[in-house]
Amino acid sequence: MNGKVVIFNHPLIHHKLSLIRDETTGTKDFRQTVSEIGMLMAYEVTRELPTYDTTVKTPVGIAKVKKLAKEVVIVPILRAGLGMVDSIQTLIPTAKVGHIGLYRDEETLEPHEYYAKFPAIISEAEVLIVDPMLATGGSVSHAISVLKARGAKRISYVGLVGAPEGIKKLQETHPDVDIFLACLDEKLNQVGYIVPGLGDCGDRLYGTK
Ligand code: PRP
Ligand code: URA
Repeated sequence: MNGKVVIFNHPLIHHKLSLIRDETTGTKDFRQTVSEIGMLMAYEVTRELPTYDTTVKTPVGIAKVKKLAKEVVIVPILRAGLGMVDSIQTLIPTAKVGHIGLYRDEETLEPHEYYAKFPAIISEAEVLIVDPMLATGGSVSHAISVLKARGAKRISYVGLVGAPEGIKKLQETHPDVDIFLACLDEKLNQVGYIVPGLGDCGDRLYGTK
């Protein structure tokens, strides 16, 4: 079955995107707002998590309840993906976290892997790959391939700003994966940056420029 593409249309997300797009927003506010958008998105992204029926004894009787049927694993793509982990974990405190380190070669725009460590339960879990920026799509596509090779079967991607080129790449390479983006921008520029985008997300999160 083909994955879906969900572009969020929510006033709070629109407002918060206006803050992180603004070039005058400093590191502290940028980091906090990226985190807040991640939390707002997580509520919707997790809407279809599988549950099972069970009962609990309340102080006054037996209640029919539903509980999450699967573990959730959040996988940030380093560095920028880290900015979305804490807030998603606030909503899903039992979620485990895997990490994959990728950087984009500035000339070729190809992703290079420098780190990967995942929880052992990855093959049975609902995996949420998080990375704010979907530009060429090379990084997310690579991360999904690595996770599939380690046995992951149920994978969604959650990002903030996407380019049409990135969505196309993911749909070609991993058509089974659901794509959740806070917004879809116009295009990439000659050096592979999203236009109008928000600049280099890792640098803005961590003050490295
Ligand atoms: C950025 C971003 C994505 C990637 C997107 O990371 O966080 O991982 O670029 O580009 P793509 O879709 O063309 O692959 P970057 O390589 O700058 O590394 P950083 O997060 O460590 O700064
Ligand atoms: N990575 C970023 O951080 N920003 C872009 O616009 C493209 C890739």
